[in-house]
Amino acid sequence: MKLTDKTVIITGGANGIGEAAVRLFMEAEANVVIADFNEEAGLRLLNELGPSAAERAIFVKSNVAEPKSAQQLMEQTMERFGAIDVLINNAGITRDAMLMKMSPEQWQDVIDVNLNGVFYCTRYGAPYMAAQGHGKIINTSSIVGVQGNIGQTNYAATKAGVIGMTKTWARELGYKGICVNAVAPGFIATEMVAKMPEKIVDGMRDKVPLRRLGRPEDVAQAYLFLASDAANYINGAVIEVNGGLSI
Ligand code: NAI
Repeated sequence: MKLTDKTVIITGGANGIGEAAVRLFMEAEANVVIADFNEEAGLRLLNELGPSAAERAIFVKSNVAEPKSAQQLMEQTMERFGAIDVLINNAGITRDAMLMKMSPEQWQDVIDVNLNGVFYCTRYGAPYMAAQGHGKIINTSSIVGVQGNIGQTNYAATKAGVIGMTKTWARELGYKGICVNAVAPGFIATEMVAKMPEKIVDGMRDKVPLRRLGRPEDVAQAYLFLASDAANYINGAVIEVNGGLSI
């Protein structure tokens, strides 16, 4: 699947699923904007992509939880590549605690990144897509947004919210030629899952019919499909990438 000359912004692109997506979209010949607030990891990845990528990949230090930063990300992308064909709202964090122990700060941090961040990036990215007359917005939800999860009140709220925003924007922006979809991963072997207690992760793995955690590349492939012309009539969908965990 090639995305030659298409410009793709990947938030949270410096690590985990986002990093796998950066590598996959580079292979697909896209122009790639790695948007992340972890500058060290972002620049390291850019360096690893090698000199041949210099023409097609840039790192933009961004905090999606800040409206100004989200706006600047869109402006810098337009300045460098002249278009925003695909926006992947992948950045996300966890601050887990049981309801009765969750602090207002833990609640707010997750809302700021996972919910507000998706809104800000889309709010400032969609007008460019509308002006172009085409675009693909891909939001990262989670199985937790559909089923809930112990210790993740804040995270579940944001990931359910992402599904609501996805369907709303699919309705609002469709007539402008913009498709909006979400990917809902199950449990994927990244830093985020490494932070969870081993016993819980083992329990999760046993419940997956495929008997393994997902790999970052498994989710990146779903992003690539939704970003490609093969998905031009898919709008408002939530694609599950969870090895069958939700059945
Ligand atoms: P990760 O922790 O490996 O990587 C997240 C990246 O987002 C990091 O590079 C981090 O620096 C960046 N980031 C965090 N806050 C940011 C901000 N305010 N502005 C810009 N960048 C920021 O996480 P992972 O596992 O790759 O997750 C990616 C997405 O997939 C997240 O939205 C997550 O909620 C979602 N997801 C992950 C699952 C998993 O099992 N790993 C399961 C379901 C969904």
